[in-house]
Amino acid sequence: MYEIIAKEILNKDVDLMVINAPLVARNAEPGHFIILRVDDIGERIPLTIAEIEGDNVSIIYQKLGYSTNLLGTYNVGDSLSDFVGPLGKAAHIRDVKNVLGIAGGVGAAPLLPQLREYARRGVKVTLVIGARSKEHIILLDKYKEFCDEIFVATDDGSDGTKGFVTDILADLYKERTFDHAIAIGPLVMMKFVVLLNKKHGLQTDVSLNPVMIDGTGMCGNCRVSIGGKTFFACVDGPDFPGEEVDFDELIVRQTYYTEEEHVCNLKLVKK
Ligand code: NAD
Ligand code: FES
Repeated sequence: MYEIIAKEILNKDVDLMVINAPLVARNAEPGHFIILRVDDIGERIPLTIAEIEGDNVSIIYQKLGYSTNLLGTYNVGDSLSDFVGPLGKAAHIRDVKNVLGIAGGVGAAPLLPQLREYARRGVKVTLVIGARSKEHIILLDKYKEFCDEIFVATDDGSDGTKGFVTDILADLYKERTFDHAIAIGPLVMMKFVVLLNKKHGLQTDVSLNPVMIDGTGMCGNCRVSIGGKTFFACVDGPDFPGEEVDFDELIVRQTYYTEEEHVCNLKLVKK
């Protein structure tokens, strides 16, 4: 069992939990993810590791469906049934002088360890962070600890520039260049960030989170098309070169279980 050491409500949709998981903590690197089960009959929830401190691992989850809402009912002192990891490939940290991170909504969580690692290596780090509203911007204080520059966009204009992250990028590229970019957020955001960056000759890595079951390359559920070939996000990723990702296919695949998710959510409402 894996004890919940701390819990923080980041906004009405998103929580942070610190889990005591010494083996995962000892072996994890930026980009790795875990799969947890809340209880013995629980759905497997894949989550990228946000932070590691000593024997503890921080995860950040959006309460979107049945299982993440159930997780949200757990508190400090409770324990999770399973917490398996580190899974996937560690992020490829490039040998560059300045890097641009682009975070959309909850995507700010998996981006954090990657950008922090760049900063630790002396790379200049610029962050463009976008969310629906000021309330939905997460981890800004943590990013302020190491980022050289931060640009904020909100859809409703409640903080920073009113608009999407791509609006800020379009302005930024009028006067600035970067060696490498990493974008993590909704698929549609990553798609349009990659298209824009490509026009400016900027290579962009993205982190993909398709539906996963086993997380070890056996079930085939997490397959993604990269450069016309099939890869499994759980063992070959979750990070991939954005220019080669078939985002449109992935966006369609992400809707496959909408009906089942709806039925599960109704169960939660009835409880
Ligand atoms: P959201 O839908 O509120 O969008 C966040 C931001 O993304 C927006 O504020 C905007 O700046 C940008 N964006 C959205 N649509 C855009 C478009 N068409 N063009 C340009 N920019 C656009 O985000 P959310 O509700 O927090 O959802 C986060 C998403 O990130 C989820 O879909 C989740 O699956 C995904 N996610 C991915 C990973 C990963 O590892 N890849 C991890 C966590 C979350
Ligand atoms: Fe089963 Fe990746 S989750 S192959």
